[in-house]
Amino acid sequence: MELKERIAVVPGSFDPITKGHMDIIRRAQTLFDRVIVLVVVNAQKNPCFSLEERVELIKASVQGIPGVEVDSYDGLLVDYVKQVGAGAIVKGLRAVSDFEYEFQMALINKELYHQVETVFLTTSAENQYLSSSVVKQIASFGGDIHLFVPEQVHDRIVERLSKIR
Ligand code: PNS
Repeated sequence: MELKERIAVVPGSFDPITKGHMDIIRRAQTLFDRVIVLVVVNAQKNPCFSLEERVELIKASVQGIPGVEVDSYDGLLVDYVKQVGAGAIVKGLRAVSDFEYEFQMALINKELYHQVETVFLTTSAENQYLSSSVVKQIASFGGDIHLFVPEQVHDRIVERLSKIR
Protein backbone atom coordinates (compact mmCIF):
# COMPACT_ATOMS: atom_id res chain seq x y z
CA MET A 1 0.00 0.00 0.00
CA GLU A 2 1.33 3.43 -0.97
CA LEU A 3 1.52 5.82 1.97
CA LYS A 4 0.09 9.24 1.19
CA GLU A 5 2.13 12.24 2.26
CA ARG A 6 0.33 14.33 4.89
CA ILE A 7 0.53 17.97 3.93
CA ALA A 8 -0.60 20.91 6.08
CA VAL A 9 -0.90 24.56 5.18
CA VAL A 10 -0.24 27.17 7.90
CA PRO A 11 -1.82 30.34 6.48
CA GLY A 12 -1.63 33.88 7.74
CA SER A 13 -0.65 37.48 7.14
CA PHE A 14 2.70 37.11 8.98
CA ASP A 15 3.18 40.90 9.11
CA PRO A 16 5.79 40.13 10.43
CA ILE A 17 6.45 36.57 11.62
CA THR A 18 6.63 36.24 15.44
CA LYS A 19 7.82 33.61 17.89
CA GLY A 20 4.14 32.72 18.32
CA HIS A 21 3.95 31.77 14.63
CA MET A 22 7.23 29.82 14.95
CA ASP A 23 5.81 27.82 17.83
CA ILE A 24 2.78 26.80 15.73
CA ILE A 25 4.95 26.01 12.65
CA ARG A 26 7.34 23.82 14.71
CA ARG A 27 4.49 21.93 16.33
CA ALA A 28 2.70 21.45 12.97
CA GLN A 29 5.98 20.05 11.63
CA THR A 30 5.87 17.27 14.21
CA LEU A 31 2.35 16.30 13.09
CA PHE A 32 2.67 16.40 9.29
CA ASP A 33 5.16 15.22 6.63
CA ARG A 34 5.18 18.57 4.85
CA VAL A 35 4.20 21.97 6.21
CA ILE A 36 3.67 24.88 3.85
CA VAL A 37 3.71 28.27 5.57
CA LEU A 38 1.51 30.37 3.31
CA VAL A 39 1.53 34.16 3.27
CA VAL A 40 -1.98 35.01 2.11
CA VAL A 41 -2.94 38.36 0.65
CA ASN A 42 -5.68 39.69 2.92
CA ALA A 43 -7.53 42.50 1.14
CA GLN A 44 -8.93 43.70 4.48
CA LYS A 45 -5.50 44.42 5.91
CA ASN A 46 -2.95 47.02 4.92
CA PRO A 47 0.36 45.25 5.62
CA CYS A 48 3.53 46.97 6.77
CA PHE A 49 5.82 44.47 5.07
CA SER A 50 5.47 43.62 1.37
CA LEU A 51 4.50 40.08 0.40
CA GLU A 52 8.08 39.40 -0.73
CA GLU A 53 9.54 40.74 2.52
CA ARG A 54 7.19 38.59 4.60
CA VAL A 55 8.11 35.48 2.59
CA GLU A 56 11.83 36.25 2.96
CA LEU A 57 11.55 36.78 6.73
CA ILE A 58 9.73 33.46 7.16
CA LYS A 59 12.22 31.63 4.93
CA ALA A 60 15.11 32.90 7.04
CA SER A 61 13.26 31.91 10.24
CA VAL A 62 12.37 28.34 9.21
CA GLN A 63 15.69 27.56 7.52
CA GLY A 64 16.91 24.18 8.68
CA ILE A 65 13.55 22.92 9.92
CA PRO A 66 12.96 19.77 7.84
CA GLY A 67 9.74 19.51 5.85
CA VAL A 68 8.83 23.20 6.14
CA GLU A 69 8.38 25.34 3.02
CA VAL A 70 7.21 28.90 2.42
CA ASP A 71 4.91 30.19 -0.31
CA SER A 72 2.51 33.05 -0.97
CA TYR A 73 -0.94 33.21 -2.52
CA ASP A 74 -3.43 35.80 -3.65
CA GLY A 75 -6.74 33.96 -3.69
CA LEU A 76 -9.02 31.67 -1.75
CA LEU A 77 -7.14 29.55 0.76
CA VAL A 78 -9.02 26.38 -0.16
CA ASP A 79 -8.02 26.77 -3.82
CA TYR A 80 -4.37 26.69 -2.77
CA VAL A 81 -5.02 23.78 -0.42
CA LYS A 82 -6.57 21.81 -3.29
CA GLN A 83 -3.72 22.72 -5.67
CA VAL A 84 -1.04 21.31 -3.37
CA GLY A 85 -3.09 18.33 -2.17
CA ALA A 86 -3.04 19.37 1.50
CA GLY A 87 -5.41 17.68 3.93
CA ALA A 88 -5.24 20.23 6.74
CA ILE A 89 -5.13 23.91 7.54
CA VAL A 90 -3.30 24.56 10.81
CA LYS A 91 -4.04 27.66 12.89
CA GLY A 92 -2.95 28.81 16.30
CA LEU A 93 -5.61 29.85 18.81
CA ARG A 94 -4.56 32.32 21.46
CA ALA A 95 -7.67 33.32 23.34
CA VAL A 96 -11.44 33.23 23.19
CA SER A 97 -11.23 36.44 21.15
CA ASP A 98 -9.60 34.49 18.28
CA PHE A 99 -12.19 31.78 18.43
CA GLU A 100 -15.24 33.34 16.78
CA TYR A 101 -13.37 34.46 13.66
CA GLU A 102 -11.35 31.26 13.36
CA PHE A 103 -14.44 29.09 13.89
CA GLN A 104 -16.25 30.97 11.11
CA MET A 105 -13.26 30.58 8.76
CA ALA A 106 -13.00 26.87 9.52
CA LEU A 107 -16.69 26.35 8.75
CA ILE A 108 -16.52 28.37 5.54
CA ASN A 109 -13.42 26.55 4.35
CA LYS A 110 -15.07 23.20 5.10
CA GLU A 111 -18.14 24.29 3.17
CA LEU A 112 -15.99 25.33 0.20
CA TYR A 113 -13.88 22.18 0.29
CA HIS A 114 -15.20 19.21 2.24
CA GLN A 115 -11.93 17.27 2.19
CA VAL A 116 -10.00 19.81 4.26
CA GLU A 117 -9.79 19.77 8.06
CA THR A 118 -8.86 22.79 10.13
CA VAL A 119 -6.59 21.85 13.02
CA PHE A 120 -6.33 24.33 15.89
CA LEU A 121 -3.22 24.29 18.05
CA THR A 122 -3.42 26.06 21.38
CA THR A 123 -0.76 28.73 21.51
CA SER A 124 1.86 28.11 24.18
CA ALA A 125 1.19 30.00 27.39
CA GLU A 126 4.16 32.35 26.92
CA ASN A 127 2.81 33.51 23.55
CA GLN A 128 -0.81 34.11 24.53
CA TYR A 129 -0.42 37.88 24.42
CA LEU A 130 1.76 38.02 21.33
CA SER A 131 0.67 39.32 17.93
CA SER A 132 2.26 40.93 14.87
CA SER A 133 0.42 44.17 15.71
CA VAL A 134 1.96 44.27 19.20
CA VAL A 135 5.42 43.69 17.69
CA LYS A 136 4.88 46.52 15.18
CA GLN A 137 3.77 48.93 17.88
CA ILE A 138 6.66 48.17 20.24
CA ALA A 139 9.30 48.36 17.50
CA SER A 140 7.92 51.55 15.99
CA PHE A 141 8.37 53.24 19.40
CA GLY A 142 11.92 51.90 19.68
CA GLY A 143 11.04 49.16 22.20
CA ASP A 144 12.87 45.85 22.52
CA ILE A 145 11.30 43.02 20.51
CA HIS A 146 13.97 40.36 21.11
CA LEU A 147 11.52 38.24 23.07
CA PHE A 148 8.89 38.34 20.35
CA VAL A 149 10.48 37.68 16.96
CA PRO A 150 12.85 34.97 15.65
CA GLU A 151 16.50 35.81 16.33
CA GLN A 152 17.50 35.37 12.66
CA VAL A 153 15.21 38.19 11.49
CA HIS A 154 15.22 40.48 14.53
CA ASP A 155 17.55 43.12 13.04
CA ARG A 156 15.75 43.22 9.70
CA ILE A 157 12.38 43.69 11.40
CA VAL A 158 13.71 46.41 13.72
CA GLU A 159 15.37 48.28 10.86
CA ARG A 160 12.24 48.16 8.74
CA LEU A 161 9.84 49.12 11.52
CA SER A 162 11.98 51.98 12.75
CA LYS A 163 11.23 53.68 9.43
CA ILE A 164 7.46 53.68 9.73
CA ARG A 165 7.06 56.52 12.24
O1 PNS B 1 -2.94 36.07 10.00
P1 PNS B 1 -4.37 36.35 9.63
O2 PNS B 1 -4.52 37.73 9.03
O3 PNS B 1 -5.32 36.12 10.77
O4 PNS B 1 -4.75 35.29 8.49
C1 PNS B 1 -6.03 35.27 7.91
C2 PNS B 1 -6.02 34.50 6.58
C3 PNS B 1 -5.05 35.15 5.60
C4 PNS B 1 -5.63 33.08 6.84
C5 PNS B 1 -7.48 34.56 6.01
O5 PNS B 1 -7.86 35.89 5.87
C6 PNS B 1 -7.61 33.83 4.67
O6 PNS B 1 -7.67 32.63 4.63
N1 PNS B 1 -7.66 34.61 3.56
C7 PNS B 1 -7.76 34.08 2.19
C8 PNS B 1 -9.16 34.26 1.60
C9 PNS B 1 -10.06 33.12 2.04
O7 PNS B 1 -9.87 31.99 1.64
N2 PNS B 1 -11.05 33.42 2.89
C10 PNS B 1 -11.94 32.43 3.45
C11 PNS B 1 -13.29 32.48 2.82
S1 PNS B 1 -14.12 34.02 3.10
